[in-house]
Amino acid sequence: MTCKVIVGGFYGDEGKGKIIAYLSIKDKPQIAVRGGVGANAGHTFVYNDETFKVRMLPSAVLNPETKLLIGAGVLVTPNILIDEARKYNAEKRTVIDNQCGIIDNVHIRRDMEDAHLKKIVGTTGSGTGPANADRAFRILNLAKNVNDLKNYLGNVSDIVNESIDKNHSVILEGTQGTFLSLYHGDYPFVTSKDVTASGICSDIGIGPKKVDDVILVFKAYVTRVGSGPLENEITVDEARKLGWIEYGSVTGRQRRSSPFNMELAKKSVMINSATQIAVTKLDVVFPECKGLKEFSKLPVEAKNFIEKIEDNLGVKVVLIGTGAEINEIIDRRIEK
Ligand code: IMP
Ligand code: MG
Repeated sequence: MTCKVIVGGFYGDEGKGKIIAYLSIKDKPQIAVRGGVGANAGHTFVYNDETFKVRMLPSAVLNPETKLLIGAGVLVTPNILIDEARKYNAEKRTVIDNQCGIIDNVHIRRDMEDAHLKKIVGTTGSGTGPANADRAFRILNLAKNVNDLKNYLGNVSDIVNESIDKNHSVILEGTQGTFLSLYHGDYPFVTSKDVTASGICSDIGIGPKKVDDVILVFKAYVTRVGSGPLENEITVDEARKLGWIEYGSVTGRQRRSSPFNMELAKKSVMINSATQIAVTKLDVVFPECKGLKEFSKLPVEAKNFIEKIEDNLGVKVVLIGTGAEINEIIDRRIEK
């Protein structure tokens, strides 16, 4: 049994939701815990032709046996959390840490109306930056003081550490991506926290030696939403021809795109100490891959693409997404 942390390798929207949803069904974890910023992230996955999206709960919601936790470093927007817990019939298996910070309407308004945040940084407007600023001021309200949340409260770091000590299978879910990190990204075009693997563990209250695997998720091309540098960015027309046009799942904004960036990927592997890599949307770049489940069946260009990533990064690509459905995946963890 292992404790795995799953984080984004580029600028978010790499498909962490799909990977975690798959692992939650395949590996049957006892616990999935969300770290990261808060409801500025939207994790999407498709199962039996139905599209699901979560902004607060871990993407393991489809496995009714998995406990769903939210770490103390994560900001909670109460109405979004409560709606998702009801929608996924997860009210009895959701625990949020007593010390999660709370986003209220004032934070959302500040995020939407602040000229720097809105026009320069291009935030998602979900209130996370202003709430984290209030947390640094030590004036932010915490979950333990919110009556509507009282049935969900608990001590998440205790629960997760005990579970790891019992050798349970535990998934730690990151949000956003490495280059949106407040410390390691392209400041000021970043989110309001560190979102690398260490940051995610810190959000949850897990020490670095408790993690067995760091799965770094890359998409087969790069996208970025909002402002900030994007090397080798292609035009909207080119992106449309390639089928790379995407829209943000929280804001609906059109994402910018560029080809896979090996140099960024190398840096990301280093900062996160990745032990395994997942590559999503291989079928978008190589349409003949759609729905394939075995590496040996991939067309040669797609195999070369994956092998080049492994050769350059020195880390095995263990999961390869070949379609939107969570079962459209190549799982090489068992290959010799
Ligand atoms: P904020 O996190 O809403 O403050 O936004 C800061 C920057 O991070 C903006 O460029 C956002 O577009 C970007 N961002 C925040 N969350 C996500 C995400 O989940 N996916 C992609 N970009 C994000
Ligand atoms: Mg997203």
